[in-house]
Amino acid sequence: MGFYNKYILPCCLDMACGAKPITKQREKVVPLATGVVLEIGIGSGQNLPHYNADKVSKIVGVDPDKNIWKRSADRRAACPIDIERIGLSGEEIPLDSKTADTVVCTYTLCTIPDPVKALREMRRILKPGGKILFSEHGMAPDAKVAKWQCRIDPIWKKIAGGCHTGRDIPELFRQAGLTFKQLDEMYIPGPRPLSYNYWGSAG
Ligand SMILES: C[S@@+](CC[C@H](N)C(=O)[O-])C[C@H]1O[C@@H](n2cnc3c(N)ncnc32)[C@H](O)[C@@H]1O
Repeated sequence: MGFYNKYILPCCLDMACGAKPITKQREKVVPLATGVVLEIGIGSGQNLPHYNADKVSKIVGVDPDKNIWKRSADRRAACPIDIERIGLSGEEIPLDSKTADTVVCTYTLCTIPDPVKALREMRRILKPGGKILFSEHGMAPDAKVAKWQCRIDPIWKKIAGGCHTGRDIPELFRQAGLTFKQLDEMYIPGPRPLSYNYWGSAG
């Protein structure tokens, strides 16, 4: 898996995460970020062009994968906002409590091994009145599609860097003690087991 994880997977993730329907989802949440932003699973920096540079003072990115971080170099260079990468895992973030105005998490809760622990960390780091902006794919509401999610999950996890197709995103937020300020959901264009999206804000 070494060659695959180092060269092929980061390239595939970057391409998949840059798909038009996903970019449209980013446009719904990322421009709402303000102040000091903590981005969980910053990946190849697909969100960077969508931040409002007049409203964001700094972006702190967390991601364990240095190969995908390398792929963000051009987007970082083109972004006028100060960007720093810290820590490795969303489950243990080396930041003081109540230090971020906004947490951004897109297409990452599917992959983090312990997503509830990571959401609790996000909640800890958020300043009072701050918000978590998210867009994630997850559990489909139709039994037939959900069944396919269960079927393909074991193989999908292996080829897609640990991604789970059908996590119950709203339930993960609730388990972490978070409350939704806004929650929308729908299928976006794409294969149905991978395209049921949840997005909005929570705190
Ligand atoms: C599908 S990619 C999405 C990247 C990016 N958030 C986006 O919207 O394009 C999932 C990302 O989660 C990262 N990731 C995996 N495990 C993680 C963890 N424990 N904590 C934080 N990020 C993690 C991966 O390295 C990868 O960059």
